Amino acid sequence: MLDVNTHIPLREKNIVLIGFMGAGKTTVGQLLAQKLEREFIDADQAIEQAHGMPVTEIFQSLGEPAFRQIEKEYIVGLCGGQRNKVISLGGGSFMQEEIREACLGSSRVVYLDLSWDAWLRRFELLIDTRPLLQSKSVEEVEQLFNSRRPVYESGHHVVNVDTREPEELAETIARTLRAEWERGE
Ligand code: S3P
Repeated sequence: MLDVNTHIPLREKNIVLIGFMGAGKTTVGQLLAQKLEREFIDADQAIEQAHGMPVTEIFQSLGEPAFRQIEKEYIVGLCGGQRNKVISLGGGSFMQEEIREACLGSSRVVYLDLSWDAWLRRFELLIDTRPLLQSKSVEEVEQLFNSRRPVYESGHHVVNVDTREPEELAETIARTLRAEWERGE
């Protein structure tokens, strides 16, 4: 495991995608990984594999606090131990301070920013597989959405995803990152 203070060259840093449920983190992350010729890791899928059940079932059988603990250990470990990866996080992960610090310190963090109106248009597609949506009214989800936004904005890059297709988004992000590597920032 890498020490958190280890210097990681910019080009080797993981790319971490954050944003609300349904922003397209997994789809865009897969495409971005192909473009950058990196391995892709979806944090929720990795947790599902490790626990042998979908996230919805982890919420049901162990509860949300247990899920948050599992995701914290997994993501902090990943940030400390991996380089050159593209990683998609579950939408709530970045709200945990330890995860935020680990990601911001070890990786380049890209926020896929979706407006509330655009999110509402995706709502029906998400409800079955997102336990948080099953226990909340639309008003409550909107509150959660608005409370998370400023936290996501602490990512290194913000990309609006309302109107662009995943392919175009992945290309835009790849271009931004390559330019940053060239400048050596
Ligand atoms: C969650 C988002 C989900 C998943 C879990 C909790 C959240 O991931 O981690 O259902 O708190 O927003 P996606 O963002 O991939 O839907």
